[in-house]
Amino acid sequence: MMKSLYDSLIRLDETDSTNAEALRRASNLSGDFAVTAEYQSAGRGRMGRSFASPKGSGLYISVLERRELSPELTARVAVSVSKAIESVCGLFCDIKWPNDIQYDGKKLCGILCERAPSVDAAAVVIGIGINLSQSEEDFGELKDIATSLKLCGKDVDKEALTKALLDELDLMLSGAGKDEYLSYYRAHSNCIEKSIYLISGNKKIPAYAAGISDDFELIVRLEDGSEKRISTGEISLRFRG
Ligand code: BTN
Repeated sequence: MMKSLYDSLIRLDETDSTNAEALRRASNLSGDFAVTAEYQSAGRGRMGRSFASPKGSGLYISVLERRELSPELTARVAVSVSKAIESVCGLFCDIKWPNDIQYDGKKLCGILCERAPSVDAAAVVIGIGINLSQSEEDFGELKDIATSLKLCGKDVDKEALTKALLDELDLMLSGAGKDEYLSYYRAHSNCIEKSIYLISGNKKIPAYAAGISDDFELIVRLEDGSEKRISTGEISLRFRG
């Protein structure tokens, strides 16, 4: 029988980034595996940003998977994370395209999927950072855009959440039904049928988010009436509420 991701989990007190740690270990370990750390000194975010990872306040975890990176994979990861939070905490989250997990318009979890170029065969590292116990003061100037499970009224059992998350990822990676993931992704996406900005460097292009395609792309309508499908990038909602 194949080892589960939970059985493969490497637990560290500290590392620079669990994504970087998984990439370093990928060529020496066979199969898929997961690595978590209590603290990351150089947590990585999307678009070259950093991800604040204070000791003991979050679940910082990465999974090394031998397959190609695709927009569908990143969307399915967001669904898996949202389902794990739902099952352990009873909290129904939103997905901000492409793969932030939000509650009440604030970011609860970030996901960074990266190709693993140093590994011969196709491989991808899936990095997930869930804010568990930060207070508003801990977030400082990010307090209006970030939240934690504790601030959402949930005192979570970190081990139970780790297990539920890795079990959801195992199920998703085993190829579980596309339709179910697509309908969950659509139902939980919080930008659909809303006015948005497409963010490109320091440019903000006004657009309308018309829907999610069958390939998990965002279908957007631009102001000149043209429509396009985008599979990666960043958006913001034009009007909150
Ligand atoms: C984002 O919101 O921009 C993505 C943040 C991803 C953070 C996680 S924490 C575990 C893993 N290790 C990292 O260095 N980053 C990801």
